[in-house]
Amino acid sequence: MSFPKNFLWGGAVAANQVEGAYDLDGKGLSVTDITTAGSLEKPRMLTYNLDGKLQETPAVPGAGLPKGATGAIDPNAYYPNHVAIDFYHHYKEDIKLFADMGFKTFRTSIAWTRIFPQGDEEKANQAGLDFYRRVFEECKKYGIEPLVTISHYEDPLYLSEKYNDWQDRAMIDMYVRYAKALFEEYKGLVKYRLTFNEINSALLMLNSFGNDVKDDAAYQKLHYQFVASAQAVKLAHQIDPNYVVGNMICGIVDYPLTPDSKDILLNRHTMEQSIFYCGDAQAKGYYPTFAKRLWAEHNVHLDITEEDKREMREGKVDMYTFSYYMSNVVTTHESEDKVGGNFAARVKNPYLNYSEWGWATAPTGLQYYLEVMYDRYEIPLMVVENGLGVVDKIAEDGKVHDDYRIDYLRQHLQAIGNAIDNGVDVQAYTTWGCIDCVSAGTGQMSKRYGLIYVDRDDEGNGDLHRMPKDSFYWYQKVIATNGEDLG
Ligand code: BG6
Repeated sequence: MSFPKNFLWGGAVAANQVEGAYDLDGKGLSVTDITTAGSLEKPRMLTYNLDGKLQETPAVPGAGLPKGATGAIDPNAYYPNHVAIDFYHHYKEDIKLFADMGFKTFRTSIAWTRIFPQGDEEKANQAGLDFYRRVFEECKKYGIEPLVTISHYEDPLYLSEKYNDWQDRAMIDMYVRYAKALFEEYKGLVKYRLTFNEINSALLMLNSFGNDVKDDAAYQKLHYQFVASAQAVKLAHQIDPNYVVGNMICGIVDYPLTPDSKDILLNRHTMEQSIFYCGDAQAKGYYPTFAKRLWAEHNVHLDITEEDKREMREGKVDMYTFSYYMSNVVTTHESEDKVGGNFAARVKNPYLNYSEWGWATAPTGLQYYLEVMYDRYEIPLMVVENGLGVVDKIAEDGKVHDDYRIDYLRQHLQAIGNAIDNGVDVQAYTTWGCIDCVSAGTGQMSKRYGLIYVDRDDEGNGDLHRMPKDSFYWYQKVIATNGEDLG
């Protein structure tokens, strides 16, 4: 098994899940800033004012705030992202630890509201631009290549209210202005960028939550995002032809539960909606034939112009990047054996083990996914998220012995190695939450993915000190041997 010579080993986080400092240095409020903590049993909530009353609604991607609502912070609620792990003040220490592991790349995102606090300003906030410049320069000091997500689940609250969570074409210009500011500011400092994190999450939510997300709204939002993404790709290449821009898909493989041909067809249609729809729009630059079926089924009357179609064709992404955590099973038959977890409210696979959050460990699915996507798009792939979210315990010797995490990561790296051996061009692997951070789905700190432990709990207690886990040293060896020693 041979990983290519310049393989980009690293880790990934998102601004809102690590930085904290939610109201410092001119930062505006994002949607995440009004999102409370939750748990597996209790959804995270968006808090807002409506009709003079403080209220809340479940924070489902693609659902947004009710019409006329104004996001508000409830003094009695807990918002884990407000402090997160305070990367804002610890970034030097954290990047040093990443460098100690041998990272070649570090994936993080930019908080849109640090750069444009409301989202519609003419001029960028200099303090925000300066913060990320310091972060990227710190990475470069150690030879770490930043891999930067432009938008990772934290739209400016002001824009989200005004345009009803991307239900307005005006969002395209707002996004492109923001992306342009980044492309110009970090020229020569950042080569790799991803336009929208897990852009397909609104469609995955359609499957999981039924009527919670209005079908046609999810498709319209995506259309504006595809056009925004395409314009950003074109602009990036104009500003610097060396820029490499990717999409980012929540990569979940679906399997049919039975050999019943109805299950096989359902499986295909599920993959089309959840995965291929967005991948095709961004990597092929046009909507697939099955889009017509999906639009008809979901009563979608898309606001789409000839100009939009041209932009999409001209702004295809340079690489296909995705997160991969688990596989799912679908069936047309009745099944009692259901699993929960965000994105995973489906049928249980009897051949797999599930985490306490209901996520299946399914490494072969990663090989399958890589081979299918490379065959379909024929552009380089990056696995930009993968990891195991579990409760870690500090042992009597004061350390975290996370052999279960090592085992999970090892199996997935083996799967990537197999795909590479089969000819797939995989260029990077960034394990998710390389340092413990706030869970996006539940808002918990106790759902830990990190190779570095952070002392902070679900109520905000802890002194935030950092400590390498056993997986830290294991990954260090993996990187040092370029994936030859996964033992
Ligand atoms: C992906 C997101 O869905 O998975 C991350 O891009 C997220 O932001 C990660 O944190 C793991 O999910 P969770 O819900 O366990 O944090």
